[in-house]
Amino acid sequence: MAAEKEKNIPQLDDKLKHIAFIMDGNGRWAQRRGMPRMAGHRAGAKTFQTLSHYCADVGLKIMTVYAFSTENWKRPAAEVNALMELMDYYLDNSERLMRKRSIRFRFIGDTTALPEKLQRKIADLEDSTKNNDMILNIALNYGARAEITRAYRVLRERGIENPTEQDVSDAMYTGGFADPDLIVRTGGDLRISNFLLWQAAYSELYFTDKLWPELTTDDIDEIIREFYTRKRRFGDV
Ligand code: FPP
Repeated sequence: MAAEKEKNIPQLDDKLKHIAFIMDGNGRWAQRRGMPRMAGHRAGAKTFQTLSHYCADVGLKIMTVYAFSTENWKRPAAEVNALMELMDYYLDNSERLMRKRSIRFRFIGDTTALPEKLQRKIADLEDSTKNNDMILNIALNYGARAEITRAYRVLRERGIENPTEQDVSDAMYTGGFADPDLIVRTGGDLRISNFLLWQAAYSELYFTDKLWPELTTDDIDEIIREFYTRKRRFGDV
């Protein structure tokens, strides 16, 4: 579907199939406005919707977002519960919120630790969207070290004793899908925070001081334009 505004960005090709986002800064966005942190997460969820629509519109093949990490359980119970409620609301309404976009939902992370109601909705949504186009990976209770540790078990279950790099890739939650070409982090911190450590081997990194709820479709255009100026050598000259 065509984007509503005139796009002034390169036509996406195989160079940019997959963008992953570390959606940081919701809490600070709210605090700066004298609002509770949860208001920042709600604003962040709106930004997530807008930007996932936009990424589908510009023809991105895969978008991955870091929605809840294995470390986020350390937050106050009220914030964790409210985040789970927000996810729940979002899943209930995702078909309406995503309107006509053909988005295929996948959840990466240990979803077995999530509230059962949420697990059922996740399974239903993955099933009902499985033939759609843009893959939207939502990392929920995700940590890259936990994912790599789990990959050992997956490989053992598959009877693979001397895995190749491809075997290890296939044992990740993202097995069978392209690695991120670009990882974008909002919120000003210059780190990866246990996100896609295996898959990020050759990813380009983009950091911005903007807080996640402030990120706009124009910023996505600028990020895409900037990405296309980079030379990726993958270790070659
Ligand atoms: C980090 O900001 C953000 C999170 C831990 C939650 C991300 C959740 C959303 C964007 C909304 C829900 C998403 C979906 C998929 C419906 P922070 O709280 O660490 O911000 P801070 O660094 O300013 O405190």
